[in-house]
Amino acid sequence: MSSSDTAAVTTGGTGSPAAVIVLAAGAGTRMKSRTPKILHPIGGLSMVGHALAAARGLDPDVLAVTVRHERDLVASHIHQLDPQALIVDQDEIPGTGRAVEVAMDALGHSLSGTVVVSYGDVPLLTTERLQELVRAHEQESNAVTVLTSVLDDASGYGRILRADDGTVTGIVEQKDASEAQRAIREINSGIYAFDASSLRAALSRVSMDNAQGEKYLTDVLGLARDAGGRVAAQVCDDRWQVEGANDRVQLAALGAEHNRRTLERWMRAGVTIVDTASTWIDSTVTLDEDVTLLPGTGLHGQTTVARDAVVGPDTTLDDVDVGTGATVTRTHGSSAVIGASADVGPFAYLRPGTKLGADGKIGTFVETKNADVGTGSKIPHLSYVGDATIGDHSNIGAASVFVNYDGVAKHHTTIGSHVRMGSDNMYVAPVAVGDGAYSGASTTIRKDVPAGALAITVAPQRNMDGWVQANRPGSAAAQAAEAAQAPGDTADGTDTANSAGGGLQDSSTDETTPRESDHS
Ligand code: UD1
Ligand code: CA
Repeated sequence: MSSSDTAAVTTGGTGSPAAVIVLAAGAGTRMKSRTPKILHPIGGLSMVGHALAAARGLDPDVLAVTVRHERDLVASHIHQLDPQALIVDQDEIPGTGRAVEVAMDALGHSLSGTVVVSYGDVPLLTTERLQELVRAHEQESNAVTVLTSVLDDASGYGRILRADDGTVTGIVEQKDASEAQRAIREINSGIYAFDASSLRAALSRVSMDNAQGEKYLTDVLGLARDAGGRVAAQVCDDRWQVEGANDRVQLAALGAEHNRRTLERWMRAGVTIVDTASTWIDSTVTLDEDVTLLPGTGLHGQTTVARDAVVGPDTTLDDVDVGTGATVTRTHGSSAVIGASADVGPFAYLRPGTKLGADGKIGTFVETKNADVGTGSKIPHLSYVGDATIGDHSNIGAASVFVNYDGVAKHHTTIGSHVRMGSDNMYVAPVAVGDGAYSGASTTIRKDVPAGALAITVAPQRNMDGWVQANRPGSAAAQAAEAAQAPGDTADGTDTANSAGGGLQDSSTDETTPRESDHS
């Protein structure tokens, strides 16, 4: 929706406000970024995403967001996160007052009740905090209730002006403040509850006669008071909740505090986190009781970890479901499912579409992609499994590659159940291996293997006797070979002296016994 759409609005009542207006039109130049400030993430969600979630939690009749800087990018991001949000375009008149005014115009003149205003760059603000503000505002029948905080260093903020009896008389911006006013440590958070009609009336009288030549929303307090309305402040003791990120230093500080709060919540819910300093969990992650997270673990997106699972150390999971009792060690995974009691890593790379069944194993230096690995099946070592279906209780030998790409298209490999495949096998897709089949070491599987068959690629081994002594004379290898071949010098007494005297002689072995890698 654009600003020309006027939302149908009912009067707010029963605790939920008529509207929340989130201001998000500013440029945020101090970030020095091509990405708009409010799109920078904290805890896996953009700053404006946090603001929208906190606002939506109030269950307002309308949630409006004022945009201008990078309008299309910001608007589509907001629409993606909250399709019901009303996008309002701010015009060229600058200032927070103007931002709210265009939103009020878009909401329509019939809107009455409580209007909450907050910012798109205040990511730690919670719905509960906003609810407290709305409750006090409505109980006291205020025209304006502003959320404030007392800071040691108030520089940059608007200061709260109070009369001798403590009543709030207004807000003065730092740039317009006198020396005495700058000494005030109670600051304007920029988060307010307004009575809609008082707000509308005051906004129509806000001038641009100030140090910045902007329409200040803060002027509404004095104007509402002049019009006979009650103006009050609610002091927020938790300064993080009202803190905005203006640059990347503040972004990191807010990100760390957000993470600290997330970890604390999970520890209180029964999750063991061994090292809080190196564990990062997005707000969208879900964990069960008795999950253990080892140092260096990052859990992102829609990741879920079930009871008794152990994740880490040094593991990053994005949209991964980890089953009950699974272990995931030094692993990088995205868009994957790990079954109950399965074992992953160390040093595994699970790419999107990996699904490992219960009791399965994706082991050391194994990369998987779009691979459905059945119950109890194992890929223990040094392999690439892409575009594959593997049945139950099968074993893929070490150093095997699912050759899925012919240079043009990707192809699928299907492996049955109770299969025992040798080490160093190449599966040239599309190809299928039947249930209970075996293969020898170094088999290149280009043709389907029927159930119960042994597949081998026969490439005769040639031993060229004495080749090293002939071609690398005097080398350490040649000396070792000579010593090993000295008559009477072998352990079992067999004389294996070089009968060819440095000439080359072929011999071949007939290797028909499959050699599995260890699949325990
Ligand atoms: C504002 C307040 C100040 C308060 C501080 C808290 C005013 C005049 N001043 O100052 O009292 O202490 O916030 O952080 O309100 N925005 C728009 N359109 C605009 C201008 C701003 O949507 O034309 C949005 C910005 O995107 C931002 C928010 O409003 O989310 C605050 O704007 P900002 O420029 O940071 O205000 P401050 O000068 O910090
Ligand atoms: Ca600001």
